[in-house]
Amino acid sequence: MFAQEIYIKRRNALRNEVKSGIILLPGNKEASMNYPDNTYTFRQDSNFSYFFGLNHPDLAGVIDIDNGIDYIFGNDVDIEDIIWMGPQPTIAEQALNAGIKNTAPLSELNEFLANVIRRKRPVHIVPHYRAETQLQLSNLLGIKPCRLKDYVSMELIQGIVKLRSVKDDNEITEIEKAVDVAYLMFTAGMKMAFPGRKEQEIVGVMEGISVTHGRPVSFPIILSINGQILHNHHHENYLEAGRMMVMDAGSETQLLYASDITRTVPVGGKFTTKQRDVYEIVLNANLKSIAETKPGTFYFDCHMKAAETIATGLKNLGLMKGNVQDAITAGAHALFLPHGLGHMLGMDVHDMEGLGQINVGYDSEIQPSKQFGTAYLRMGRRLQPGFVVTNEPGIYFIPELIDQWKSANMFSEFINYEKVEEYRNFGGIRIEDDILVTPDGCRILGKPIPKTVAEVEETMKEGMA
Ligand code: GLY
Ligand code: MN
Ligand code: MN
Repeated sequence: MFAQEIYIKRRNALRNEVKSGIILLPGNKEASMNYPDNTYTFRQDSNFSYFFGLNHPDLAGVIDIDNGIDYIFGNDVDIEDIIWMGPQPTIAEQALNAGIKNTAPLSELNEFLANVIRRKRPVHIVPHYRAETQLQLSNLLGIKPCRLKDYVSMELIQGIVKLRSVKDDNEITEIEKAVDVAYLMFTAGMKMAFPGRKEQEIVGVMEGISVTHGRPVSFPIILSINGQILHNHHHENYLEAGRMMVMDAGSETQLLYASDITRTVPVGGKFTTKQRDVYEIVLNANLKSIAETKPGTFYFDCHMKAAETIATGLKNLGLMKGNVQDAITAGAHALFLPHGLGHMLGMDVHDMEGLGQINVGYDSEIQPSKQFGTAYLRMGRRLQPGFVVTNEPGIYFIPELIDQWKSANMFSEFINYEKVEEYRNFGGIRIEDDILVTPDGCRILGKPIPKTVAEVEETMKEGMA
């Protein structure tokens, strides 16, 4: 945990955002995999962890705004629990670490809330993604699970987004730790990317490094020679010379902060001219949009900078044609870049996405685009110092999408379909960094992970020995 003052400060800051009533933030419960006692690795709810820090299941936190009191509800272990789990700190001891003196058994939460509701005081809740928590809230508040969404508090959502969006130095240190573990994961992966190796072997090594240094990976690893499938979790292929291998992965620290990195490497360690040409365009899009990343800029404009760089590069290669600005305004580049430049990163890989992506990435100044491709941009709003965003442009050759657009003669004034056919089996390339917005610009977090053609080839040389 961070120091207790940090959690006290965060809760008091939230009090200023949500004016009256109580805030109810349930922590996560254990989640069963295939029978009740066989559970997934416990992962605390990020909002609960942000405001209360405790990393145990079956807790609930309450912030009473009107009375200035915070509570932890939870049950102390009994002798049977101790036999299986060993001695555990009491709830009162745990709560003190978060600066909270008021604790009570979980069974008292019902009566506590009934009292609040009787007095017609507002109960602020956020949307929940786990069925167990939805049922718990349903029972506690007397609201059918399917109607909980009508009772979520926009005031609370906006307050949490405001606070969690700006990372302090302690949080940046955590994210950098997670990127440093990713450095180890990715350099190991690069050194294994040789013909004959099965994708799953590399996934196993990368996951193992994450577990060794912190916690499990921050999301299921994407690793494939079919990088044109954006979230490819199929790892059964054997690597073949001439293919590019996409690795998109991250680690999670003990305090639950994530990294989210992508690198794409040529199987065998040497880029062909064709691979290098496309790679350099993606790298250029990454670098140029990072150069535009600074306070006051809409992240939407950084996305468009990446799109423009990609369209220009593809025009130079003969895959696109016509006026670049007109092409990206029309959305023709989305044949090759059908996703957004990035998203917020923090305790969640897509940070706070459970609170509603539109509440995190957009605001009254800017709404999401409706255009294919750009509509997937998760973060479009103005940047502020302390925001952490991913920068992850890519170029993909998706045969099914190419065929659909070609047969509909889509954007034929901007796309040279004959030339595109030469790349049909190319796969995809994505490069992803984690970026901190600073007062005068931005910086890439963590130990630099090989990224240029020369750096990737140099690193992969060590794998050949
Ligand atoms: N790893 C998923 C993403 O990059 O957003
Ligand atoms: Mn990623
Ligand atoms: Mn990402």
